[in-house]
Amino acid sequence: MQSALIVVALVAAVVVAQDPAPGWLAYATASCPAGTRITHMEAKWTVGQNPPQSFAFFSPWFGIDTTDNLNLLQPVNPWFGTGWSMYTEYYQWSPSHNKDSTQYSVSAGDQLFGQITFNGESEQSYTLKQTDVTTGQTSEMVIPVQVGSDGQHKNYTVQYIVYEKVAQCNQYPPDQKVVFNDIKVLCNGVQVQPQWTTGIVEQVCDFKANAISPSQVEITWNIDGVPPTQKAIDHSAQSAKNYRVDNVARYRDIKKMKKEQEKKQH
Ligand SMILES: *[C@@H]1O[C@H](CO)[C@@H](O)[C@H](O)[C@H]1NC(C)=O
Repeated sequence: MQSALIVVALVAAVVVAQDPAPGWLAYATASCPAGTRITHMEAKWTVGQNPPQSFAFFSPWFGIDTTDNLNLLQPVNPWFGTGWSMYTEYYQWSPSHNKDSTQYSVSAGDQLFGQITFNGESEQSYTLKQTDVTTGQTSEMVIPVQVGSDGQHKNYTVQYIVYEKVAQCNQYPPDQKVVFNDIKVLCNGVQVQPQWTTGIVEQVCDFKANAISPSQVEITWNIDGVPPTQKAIDHSAQSAKNYRVDNVARYRDIKKMKKEQEKKQH
């Protein structure tokens, strides 16, 4: 009886611990045809208008995931409470592991261009790149493909366009919209037309994803919308380990980053 309970608890934990994860707001998703894997995905978007300063942490991003939704590769664009940044990130659920490329600060209105490219069956890795087209700055890294429990390398098949992390509605950017443009997906080297389905994880601030076409997805919200419940805030915070600690550290990082970039420009 007790072991049955433990099994149930473990299964429940496994079911929860995968993407789409707690803390995601609205998202669009599509998959490669069966038996194929993602060999390239790219998309462009514009950095949002500055929201008021706060301790809020959130990000629009796109990314790709393995079929079991446990390995996420993403060009990201977080707001760290006082400024925007860009870099690329890998999140592996099991064993839990996170890796970020170098963070750079970016400005409202800058054009971002993210790219994720498979380096081939012999390499079994992906190159992730996030470029601020306005400044020319690129952040990139290479991430090996994880070997699954069957001893084979996993296949990345799932595409995501996401806005992530719960905050108060008036802490989000006042433009109330981000548009992902020129989305391009290749499966086994062939360009496909993603058939997006949309979803909502945390129902806050009227966040919605809308697929305008296979190559264009917008995510909208309402700064006067239905505020998050305390449960949604806790839920979201739990999903990011050391959420508040990270946030304060990042708040400092971004100030340092800005100073260094200003120095370089002079
Ligand atoms: C993974 O992708 C490769 C290449 O497209 C394919 O040959 C293989 O069947 C896929 N594996 C699975 C489990 O779908």
